[in-house]
Amino acid sequence: MCGIIAYKGKDKAISVILEGLKNLEYRGYDSWGIACKSNPSIVLTKGVGNIGEVTEEEIKSELYKGKPLTIGIGHTRWATHGGVTKENAHPHQSENHRVAVVHNGIIENFEELKAKLKNIKFKSETDTEVIPQLLQYHMESRKDFEKAFVDTLKELQGNYAVVAIDQQSDKVLFGKVGSPLVIGKKEDEYFVASDIPAFLKHTNQVIYLEDGEYGSIGDSLKIYKLSNNQIINKDVQTVDWNLEQAQKGEYPHFMIKEIMEQRDSITRALEQKNSNLLKVIEMMKKAKGIFLVGCGTSFHACVSASYNFSHIAKAHVNIVLASEFRNYEEFLTDESLMIAVSQSGETADLIDAVKVAKAKGVKIISLVNVMGSTLKRMSDESLLMNAGPEICVCSTKNYTSQLAILLLLAYGFADRLEEGKELIQSAANKVEELIKNNLDKIKDLAKKLKDNKNMFLIGRDLAYPSALEGALKIKEVSYIHAEGFAGGELKHGTIALIEEGTPVITLATPETEQLINSNAIEIKSRGGYIIGIGSKKHEVYDFYIEVPNFKQANPLLMIVPIQLLAYYLAVERNCNPDKPRNLAKSVTVR
Ligand code: F6R
Repeated sequence: MCGIIAYKGKDKAISVILEGLKNLEYRGYDSWGIACKSNPSIVLTKGVGNIGEVTEEEIKSELYKGKPLTIGIGHTRWATHGGVTKENAHPHQSENHRVAVVHNGIIENFEELKAKLKNIKFKSETDTEVIPQLLQYHMESRKDFEKAFVDTLKELQGNYAVVAIDQQSDKVLFGKVGSPLVIGKKEDEYFVASDIPAFLKHTNQVIYLEDGEYGSIGDSLKIYKLSNNQIINKDVQTVDWNLEQAQKGEYPHFMIKEIMEQRDSITRALEQKNSNLLKVIEMMKKAKGIFLVGCGTSFHACVSASYNFSHIAKAHVNIVLASEFRNYEEFLTDESLMIAVSQSGETADLIDAVKVAKAKGVKIISLVNVMGSTLKRMSDESLLMNAGPEICVCSTKNYTSQLAILLLLAYGFADRLEEGKELIQSAANKVEELIKNNLDKIKDLAKKLKDNKNMFLIGRDLAYPSALEGALKIKEVSYIHAEGFAGGELKHGTIALIEEGTPVITLATPETEQLINSNAIEIKSRGGYIIGIGSKKHEVYDFYIEVPNFKQANPLLMIVPIQLLAYYLAVERNCNPDKPRNLAKSVTVR
C-alpha cells in the first residue's frame, strides 16, 4: 500500500503536499515524490527513504522557480513492483514529460500494456509507469487530457487509486477501483488523498469515492461513473476526527500516544446506538453459522470474542483467518453470517473473503474503524470502532476497541447489554491508572530484556488470545522473536527452547491462574525467567505486573502492559515503533 495526496487551490501546493505525505507515511515509507504543475514544465522531486526528515525549504529549492504552485501531487511508497530506488518512486511521468501520475494499487495487466506501448521508453521497473505512458498515448489521438484519462482507466486491470496532472491543463484527474481515495473540500481548495489525516488540518468536509468512479477538479469538482460517463451527485460528509487525534502532540511516537489514549477510545467504542447493536444482534441470532473473520491483530480480537460468545452468549461462532476463509466456502449458505473485523477496512485478504461470502449470499456485518472504507461499503451492516485515526502501523487502540465491541455483542446476545456496557466502561476507566502504576517498571523490564533473541507468552482461556496479540506486538516493533501459546501447548514441543534466562510472560486470570502458574513452575525449572501478568502475585514470578480483575473484560487491560513493553523494547533497540520494517498500515497485497 502507498499514500497519495493531491492538491488544487492556493499557492501552497508544496507545503500542503509535504505535510500530507508526512501524515500518510504509515501507508508506506520507503521512498517519496512530489510533482507540481509549473511553467514551462511540471517540476518534480523524489527521494529514497523517509520523508519525515525532509523540510519544506529543501523541497522548495528543488521545485519553486518563482512561479505560483497551486496544483500538485505527492506519493509515499511501499514497494511492490520494482526495488526501492529514486527511479521507481512516484510520481511517474509520460515519456514527453507532459503528465505526471501517482498510484496506489497494482496494475495486473501492466506487461500487456507495456507491450502495446513498445515504442515508448520506460524509465522505471514499476507497474505504475504504464499509466502516464498510456495517458500520453491516448492524448496523442484524443487531444484532450480528461478523455485520454478515461480511455486509460478503462484499460487498467487490477486495483488502483490514481491521480494525474497535465502541464497544459488546470485539471486534477482522479479515479479508483479497489484502493481508497477520498476528496477533501474547503471553499475553493480541493484535496484528493488515500486517507483523511493527509488533509485533516485543512478540512473535515469529505467525499468518499466508490470503486468505478472517476472525476476532475477544474473550476469545480465533478465525479462520474466510469462505466457510462454519467455524472454523479455525491454527498459531502463531515468527519468527526480531529487534528489532535492525527498528530503526535507531545509524544515521541504515535504508538505510545495511541496506547495512552485507550481509556477514551474504548469509551468511544461503547458509544454505539442501541438500535444498531440490536439490529446486529438480531442478525446474529437468526443466522445459521456465524463466521468471525480478520487478519493479524483483528483476527486476535476474533479469537478473544469466540471465548466471550461461548462463556456469555452460549453461542457458537467460527473464527477464521481471512486468508484461509475460502477453504470454508462449502459451509456457507444464504443463512450464514460473516462478521468481518478490520481497522482499515482495506485489507486485501479480508476483502477477498467478503467477496467469497457475498457470492454465497452470506450477510456481512463489519466492525471497522475507517468510515469510508471498502469493507464498510461492502457490508450489510456496520459498527464503527470510533477509535479515531490509528496512525502507528501496529494496531493498539483499535484492538481494544474491537475487543470492547465484540464483548458488547456477546453480552447483547445474552440480553445483558447494559451489564456489558458497565463492565467494559469500568475496565476502560482503569487504563490510565494501570499505565501510571506500571510505566517505570515496564521501562526497566524493557532495558533488561532488550538483548534477548526469543520470548514466549502463555495464557489460557481469555488470556490466550492476549498472548497471541502480545507476541505479535513484540515481534513487529522490536524484532525480537516472540510466540504466544495456549498455556497447555508450550510443553508440547516448544519448551525445548527454554534456556537459562529465556523470558516467558504468563497471563493469568482468576479462573486460569492455578494452571498457568503450574505451567510457569515447569518453565522456571528449565531456567525460564517468568514475567507474571494478572491480578494476583505468585512466588514463581521473577517479575510481576498487576492488572486488576475485570472478569470477561480482562483482555482489554491485560494487553496494555504488553503493548507498553513492546513499545519500550523497540525504543531500547533503536527501532522506530511507528514504522516497523517491511510493514505498512493496511496490507493490500495478497
Ligand atoms: C498488527 C497489525 C496487523 C493488522 C492486520 C489487519 O499490529 O496492525 O496485524 O491488524 O494487518 O489489518 P486491518 O485490521 O486493518 O484489517
